[in-house]
Amino acid sequence: MFAVVMWYSVLFSFILLHSARGQVSYSIPEEMAKGSTVGNIAQDLGLDLQRLRLGKARIYTGDSTEYIGLNKDTGLLLIKEKMDRETLCAKTTPCALHLQLILENPMELYTITVEITDINDNPPSFEKKRIHFEISESAVTGARFMLEGAVDADVGVNGLQSYSLKPTDNFVLELLSQPGGDKKVEMVLQRPLDREKRGVVTLLLTATDGGDPQLSGTVQIHVTVLDVNDNAPVFTQKEYKAILTENSAKGFKLTTVSATDADEGSNGQVTYYIASKEDIVRKMFIIDQYSGEVALNGLVDFEKASNYQIDIQAKDQGGLSDSCKLIIDVLDINDNKPVINVLSMSSSVSEDSTPGTVVAMMKVDDADSGVNGQIHCIINDNIPFALTSPSSNFISLRIEQQLDREKDAEYNISVTCSDQGVPALSSSASLSLQISDVNDNAPVFEKTNYEACVLENNTPGLSIFSVKASDADWNQNARVSYILEDSTVNGVSVSSYVSVQPDSGLITAMRSFDYETLKHFHFRVKAQDGGSPPLSSNVTVKITVQDQNDNAPQVLYPVQTGGSVVAEIVPRAADVGYLVTKVVAVDVDSGQNAWLSYKLQKATDRALFEVGLQNGEIRTVRQVTDKDAVKQKLTVVVEDNGQPSRSAVVFINVAVADSFPEVLSEFTDFAHEKQYNDNLTFYLVLALAAVSFLFITCVVVIISVKIYRWRQSRFLYQSNLPVIPYYPPHYADTGVTGTLPHGYNYEVCMTTDSRKSDCKFSTLGGQNVLVVDPSFTETMQHTIKKNNDLEGEYSTSVRKMLYTLQNKHNHGVQNN
Ligand SMILES: *[C@@H]1O[C@H](CO)[C@@H](O)[C@H](O)[C@H]1NC(C)=O
Ligand SMILES: *[C@@H]1O[C@H](CO)[C@@H](O)[C@H](O)[C@H]1NC(C)=O
Repeated sequence: MFAVVMWYSVLFSFILLHSARGQVSYSIPEEMAKGSTVGNIAQDLGLDLQRLRLGKARIYTGDSTEYIGLNKDTGLLLIKEKMDRETLCAKTTPCALHLQLILENPMELYTITVEITDINDNPPSFEKKRIHFEISESAVTGARFMLEGAVDADVGVNGLQSYSLKPTDNFVLELLSQPGGDKKVEMVLQRPLDREKRGVVTLLLTATDGGDPQLSGTVQIHVTVLDVNDNAPVFTQKEYKAILTENSAKGFKLTTVSATDADEGSNGQVTYYIASKEDIVRKMFIIDQYSGEVALNGLVDFEKASNYQIDIQAKDQGGLSDSCKLIIDVLDINDNKPVINVLSMSSSVSEDSTPGTVVAMMKVDDADSGVNGQIHCIINDNIPFALTSPSSNFISLRIEQQLDREKDAEYNISVTCSDQGVPALSSSASLSLQISDVNDNAPVFEKTNYEACVLENNTPGLSIFSVKASDADWNQNARVSYILEDSTVNGVSVSSYVSVQPDSGLITAMRSFDYETLKHFHFRVKAQDGGSPPLSSNVTVKITVQDQNDNAPQVLYPVQTGGSVVAEIVPRAADVGYLVTKVVAVDVDSGQNAWLSYKLQKATDRALFEVGLQNGEIRTVRQVTDKDAVKQKLTVVVEDNGQPSRSAVVFINVAVADSFPEVLSEFTDFAHEKQYNDNLTFYLVLALAAVSFLFITCVVVIISVKIYRWRQSRFLYQSNLPVIPYYPPHYADTGVTGTLPHGYNYEVCMTTDSRKSDCKFSTLGGQNVLVVDPSFTETMQHTIKKNNDLEGEYSTSVRKMLYTLQNKHNHGVQNN
């Protein structure tokens, strides 16, 4: 058919196809330009141009558009209007215009057929510019997708001839002939789609015709590949690592894990989970479901776990998953103090323990690791102890230097252990250690020697003073007892002079001291402690006996020879200041007590003599005259300077005469006096006998009363009668000295101005008042006499009597 059309167009183009009588055919291609010549109708019909003109030739087209006109002058048929075959005939072939040429004068009718041949002026065209498909990536090969075909208005070879599809990676084109000549265009899936590789596939479908030149039309095919969940999430790393510092705050972000899913939409939406089964891990860490950020949710303690392994799972919404591991290393921080455990500890150690002795064992632990757990221990300075470490974690406290309880009886030892972390942590333990005593100190006296003064005539048992020694040791080792060390004083054991109280060190006098026989003595006292063995030391004690005025002056000259009459002779021609004699006296006391002074107490003629106060010299004061008696009697008192003073009386006879016979005659008078004195002696003896008798009577009466009472109390045992002792008046001890009874109390006061007094009393503990036994007598007491003591007066007068008696007697002897 196309072949026929082509043949016609080639052969009859611009030519008269055939000319039958009254009928002519032309063939022209479509789209000829206006004015183009279709054919020479006049010639073809054999008509004269004249005829045409005269016959008013015209073309009749009916109602339709006049595409072709007639040029009557030339007899040519010309294109009047451009013709499109497709408009005129569409698919109908052949396509021809049927025209009538009408002539008048005569009326003639010619039929002109103009066949319009096709030219390829229309490309194949698709109705849409684009075609959209949505195909799941899971579509299987062989799946078919219908495509809309193209349209080509041209006919024949100019019409649609073929299709092509590019590229052909996934799809091929298949054309199916359909009844009616149409073709069904289908796209067949040849290779499966992968959305993850290409989410959109763009194809170009081209339709071509067979014209020359060939024309084509295209349409774009957009295939959107629909996702299916064909990809599991994939972690970017199979193993993640993170470092976590111990004690990090809750919420600390460790790391972010990440998984990708090639799918899209919900198939590609990944969520994360902790898949570890261990409870501890699940509690300790949390993961953000969407971001994959792993954070701390608890408190990490390196000492409990130094690392963690977390299984993490990533899931997409389609249920596919992947897993990875997160390995967390925990970094230790120094959060544990060293702990000191005292394993054993002696509470007390002897001061003589040898250096090196272990007194305490301790164990020190630190839960941290590395330098944070390395421990160094120290003790406080300046104590005689040291730490050693026999093995790691164990430390022992040893004695390093010799101990001395007397210096430090107790130690508070503080052991401080610190680790090497930054900052370092430390802890300390306090150990209290008592040092027990060893008897290593002897008692020490407070003084290197002791001296004390005691007034003579002390009472036996008098406390003199105490020695004291201290001992630096403790308790029994410091219990000091005092012992008097034996020695002799004047050939007698010292223990008969003094005694020492063992516990107090009080020294007491064992006897009454007499300055005149013993001025001082010394002895040693030992102080001994109660340790085992005991230690001791000794000290010298010197006792100085102090003088008291207990001796009256003794007159050495003139010799008092009882009744003998010795007279100093003074010549009448003696000058004023003539030395008659010198009284010489001594006092066995010392110092003031022995400082003597002389006074003229009585004299026959006071105006004639004087006595030198200091030297006892008796001198004449005036010229002797004849009127002066031959016989002069002087009484001189010698007094010492003691308090109270003691004195002696000297009687001196002085004869004022120029010749011995004169003296003698005068002194015979003394014989008369003796006669008188004999009488006196008789009375005196009588008086004495009476006194003695009275005394003996009293004694007898007292004894009788005593015996009577004793018997009475035995008989009248239950009578309850009051017993009244009876003593005779003036009952007294006539005593040791055999003199008449009298008694005095002396309060002895130490005078510092006493010349020879070279010691003073210090406080000697208990008693420091010396009580002098008053039972000494013998001498006349001036002071007391002045105090009108009757007894004193009595004694003085008696003594006077005795003296005179003796004197008379002696005179008598001399006279014979
Ligand atoms: C030791 O500690 C105790 C109790 O704290 C205290 O009484 C004592 O005085 C201390 N001793 C020394 C020598 O510091
Ligand atoms: C007394 O002490 C001295 C040293 O102070 C010592 O030499 C002497 O032996 C001691 N005497 C006695 C009897 O212990």
